[in-house]
Amino acid sequence: MRWPKGLTGLCYGGDYNPEQWPAEVWPADVELMRRARVNLVTVGVFAWSRLEPQPGRYDFDWLDRVLDLLYDGGIRVALATPTASPPPWFSLRHPDALPVTADGTRLSHGSRDTYCASAPAYRAAARGIAEALADRYRDHPSLALWHVHNEYGTTCHCEHVAVAFRAWLRARYGDLDRLAEAWTGSFWSQHYSDWEQIRPPRTTRYLGNPGQLLDFRRFVSDELLGAYVEQRDLLRAATPDVPVTTNYVLGGWVPVDHARWAAEVDLVAIDHYPAEAGPGAEEQTALAADLARSWARRGERLRRTGRAGQVGATGHIGLAGQVGATGHIGLAGRVGATGHIGRGGQGGRGGAVEPASVDGSGGPAWLLMESAPNLILTPGRMHAKEPGRMIRHSLAHVARGSRGAMFFQWRASRGGAEVFHSALVPHAGPDSRAFREAVSLGGVLDRLAEVDAGTVRAPVAIAWDVASWWALQSTVLPSGQLDYLAEVSAAHRALSRAGHTVDFVAEDDDLLGYALLVLPALYLLPDRYAARIHDYVAAGGHLLVSYFSGIADEDARVRTGGYPGALREVLGVRVEEFHPLDPATRLPLSDGTTGRLWAETVRLTGATPSVFYAGGLLDGEPALTRHDYGDGVAWYLSTRLDGDAYRDLLARVAEAAGAAPTCPTAPAGVEAVRRGTAERSWLFLLNHSAEAQTVPVCGVDLLTGDYADPVRLPAGGCAVLRETADADPGRRSDA
Ligand code: GAL
Repeated sequence: MRWPKGLTGLCYGGDYNPEQWPAEVWPADVELMRRARVNLVTVGVFAWSRLEPQPGRYDFDWLDRVLDLLYDGGIRVALATPTASPPPWFSLRHPDALPVTADGTRLSHGSRDTYCASAPAYRAAARGIAEALADRYRDHPSLALWHVHNEYGTTCHCEHVAVAFRAWLRARYGDLDRLAEAWTGSFWSQHYSDWEQIRPPRTTRYLGNPGQLLDFRRFVSDELLGAYVEQRDLLRAATPDVPVTTNYVLGGWVPVDHARWAAEVDLVAIDHYPAEAGPGAEEQTALAADLARSWARRGERLRRTGRAGQVGATGHIGLAGQVGATGHIGLAGRVGATGHIGRGGQGGRGGAVEPASVDGSGGPAWLLMESAPNLILTPGRMHAKEPGRMIRHSLAHVARGSRGAMFFQWRASRGGAEVFHSALVPHAGPDSRAFREAVSLGGVLDRLAEVDAGTVRAPVAIAWDVASWWALQSTVLPSGQLDYLAEVSAAHRALSRAGHTVDFVAEDDDLLGYALLVLPALYLLPDRYAARIHDYVAAGGHLLVSYFSGIADEDARVRTGGYPGALREVLGVRVEEFHPLDPATRLPLSDGTTGRLWAETVRLTGATPSVFYAGGLLDGEPALTRHDYGDGVAWYLSTRLDGDAYRDLLARVAEAAGAAPTCPTAPAGVEAVRRGTAERSWLFLLNHSAEAQTVPVCGVDLLTGDYADPVRLPAGGCAVLRETADADPGRRSDA
């Protein structure tokens, strides 16, 4: 079975909202989709008020016609459950299911995402519409994928949430003493003597309790996951052969642990909208795609090892029995005595061993479910994408394993809150650059069908930990400038610019598969994760840790005795004091580079200093250290290096670790990513620069069908080489 069901090759299409248009437009839409070679569209994602205009009275006639038309046109459907936008009648009938903000304001309908996932009425109505859709369309031949909800992300602080939060906390802690310990209840008189006294973290007089805030983030993620799983299970029961997913939204406000959710979706699907119009857009694209691939790999591994499906029948996660002694849900007690799961020896240090995908395609399944065709939205402004950029961004996702490129949306709306958002068919209609590029992209994706067999392997990994992110959003830290995503992005950018493709890993991943592991601002570090990191280095791994890692345990309680608490031994350092810097301050370092944002008083307890602070309070103190530990090496970086210096450092450290860049001859500005099978490989070369570039490699360029040696890329141009061991012009014919 192919996932999405019935589709071969790469997926191409996007959100299709026919309910916004008169029926006469629908056949024209299908005709245009055929011209663009669209093969998959998401339908019905915000159509609840049209599908169920009154409670329990459904109107499916229009959707029947749309699905029939699409099917006749050869286009498959990701059928959405419209539960992200309950109809006005629902909110008026069930005001208790409208979300409440931390300050007690109950929101009104009139936008979208106005639901409380803990409200029984909302859950029942969501199940109702999902069941009705499943009954109606279970046998429709266009149905390729279930698309549950849209971008789960609403947080609520109402009384339903208070009840659910308490249940979650009881399951996590068992008793109030343990809760008091985790939340440091003795600080500011916060001992609870009855579970009923606990509330969601609502607006209070002064600083909130960091332990409570962190657990609330964990709870919200699990509660939303419970809502998803409830729909997934009934859809699965109706159509066991149709995969089910939901589209992840990315961003700092997102209350969802995507890595954890990955085990519960059949296909990781992300929406990606870069928030920068310059080169930052390409960097964010690479980061998002590497995260998506890593979540998919993790999800597939958890399913394979039987660790998915930990959501209880009530839809609540973390019910008794699933919480280990350490307090982490669903992971405790499952890691072997050494803390290792699997050995990297199977795959060498060329990346973690990829499990075969469920459907036999290359690598775990993930899909770029939404992106903007012709615009980049930055705060206050919509930037038109330059010609070719939409295709390049789409290829950047496919290069990193996406099973296609999907967009928001098919046809630009005539009204509504997103009237000027981008579309494959813009307001100007098909006689437009945007639509012509959409047609070109359809051709490009068609020509790339064979790459779907290829897996991406990364020799280096960065730790990703959403709990550390949430904890770093606290207002009680030594610097308001510490930003988890900025730290992770800086490390990812530096490794990418050094030519490496990067995986993201979590505690229970196969760390030994990687030559180099980078821990940026991994603030929370449970004991067993720390033990695995020590084991990784002892066994020969190379580690680079940056400041503000290993500081606290999973309850955000600081490890005493010197920072970076859980990593002191492996790093051979002991940090006594932090020196958060003013944003404008630059600290000179002994190797001619500069540090910023952060500095520390680092004492050596076994490590060798490599670079020193030069001048000021920390003059002569170590800034970068190296510690040989077991068979491996552990580096500690106590300040933020500027872009080039961080790239150079990570390039050196990765090289020493034995990690080779994907394409060492690719010039700066050209992104190189490889997908491959045991027999063959494809090299994606994406020229993000404004100059023509030459790359001294050869192979058949699938985009042109011609053999290239060397590859010449115009400014903004791309090539996808089918590499062969004996790449020679005679191969041209098999393009
Ligand atoms: C996405 C969302 C879409 C649409 C789009 C606009 O995050 O899923 O429904 O709002 O943004 O850019």
